[in-house]
Amino acid sequence: MHSNTGLDGVIAADTVLSEVDGEAGRLIIRGHTLEQLVGRCSFEEVLGMLLEGFFEPEGSAPLARAIGAARAEAFSSLPQVDARLLSLAPIEALRALVARLGDGEDLATALRLIAAMAVFTAAVVRLRGGERPVAPDPNADQAADFLRMLRGEPASRAEIAALQRYLVTIADHGLNASTFAARVVASTRAGLASATIAALCALKGPLHGGAPGPVLDMLDAIGTAENAVPWLEQALDRGERLMGFGHRIYRVRDPRADALREALRVLGAERGRSSARLALAEAVEAAALELLRRKRPQRALDTNVEFYTALLLEALAVPREAFTCVFAMGRVAGWIAHAREQVVHGRLIRPQSRYVGPRAQGDPRTVEDPHGTENARGTEDPRGAKDPPGRSTSAAAT
Ligand code: ACO
Repeated sequence: MHSNTGLDGVIAADTVLSEVDGEAGRLIIRGHTLEQLVGRCSFEEVLGMLLEGFFEPEGSAPLARAIGAARAEAFSSLPQVDARLLSLAPIEALRALVARLGDGEDLATALRLIAAMAVFTAAVVRLRGGERPVAPDPNADQAADFLRMLRGEPASRAEIAALQRYLVTIADHGLNASTFAARVVASTRAGLASATIAALCALKGPLHGGAPGPVLDMLDAIGTAENAVPWLEQALDRGERLMGFGHRIYRVRDPRADALREALRVLGAERGRSSARLALAEAVEAAALELLRRKRPQRALDTNVEFYTALLLEALAVPREAFTCVFAMGRVAGWIAHAREQVVHGRLIRPQSRYVGPRAQGDPRTVEDPHGTENARGTEDPRGAKDPPGRSTSAAAT
């Protein structure tokens, strides 16, 4: 039988970077709780914490300035964007553009990748909308410059602060699927660009960083608070998963959901307007949690980071098809830190699989069972008991 653990509970790396406490709903990044970082640190400061000790120092420029210079360099590699690339989903276009960057293990490669996420995402969104890309300002920080490159005009202080909160909130999160992908590739010594591309591929899926776009689709489809219960109930009865809920590690509320809801609240207060969208989202969240408790009692399912990611990025006027790219802008910090940690302290990641398919003819492990059906000793899969072409069960059993 195929086991289906998804590596649940397996420890595949020791890390000094972050700890996800799924029972307490706590996230620690380099010794600081999420609450101690969000709203107090910039993305660059958290990035600096994550990268600390994993690179040889290069030059004396502060990290924010070095990333600014790297944004200018990334922008200069943009003219090759073609119509075919722009017909792809933004995350696929971003992946293709990152693939044009060279590999390496040094800080310059890392900064180029971090800068490229912001520059390429903004450019792809603008080019898809028929607008010219906006050149970076190397003196701005990543959050402010991204919003300016995206819109063609500076964002407000409140909007920049909200994006800072988002990028800090999602900068690192233990051995999630994309970070694990980055570590696997890094462990082969392929280089930081290769590790980042692997991580982007894993992030794209709707069970991971591809969830927030569908969260908004769900809110649009629900439309009104009164429609939340019937709509969600029908979706669950059809066996669907509610996007923005559930987590492999958290058995309680994802602390990042609260950090982002708070960011939305602060943004709303600073803009001086209450948000009908937020009110709808809170009604949908309450209905979903009640229904999940009732209809999926076997599993503790609570709100995850993607639910409020969707609302925050929408409030910042990021187009929903580009949400995963903005996730990558923040998470690239964790990918690179983990990739370097794997190279510096780890070994080649090479687990084993357990073969549950049919045995080869003449395999001494094949036994004849008393009921006349062939099976293999130990780890049989009833679905794998089919004979290979040209081989009969009776012949194989002899
Ligand atoms: N809605 C309804 N049911 C759910 C949900 C959900 N959101 N999540 C899990 N379940 C159910 C599953 O159907 C399954 O039930 P079953 O055993 O009766 O089939 C049970 O809970 C366990 O599900 P698993 O897939 O084993 O849980 P896993 O730990 O692998 O999944 C995951 C975690 C992928 C996040 C899941 O909860 C999910 O699909 N959520 C929706 C997508 C989403 O929000 N993704 C973003 C995650 S956060 C991030 O990656 C940044």
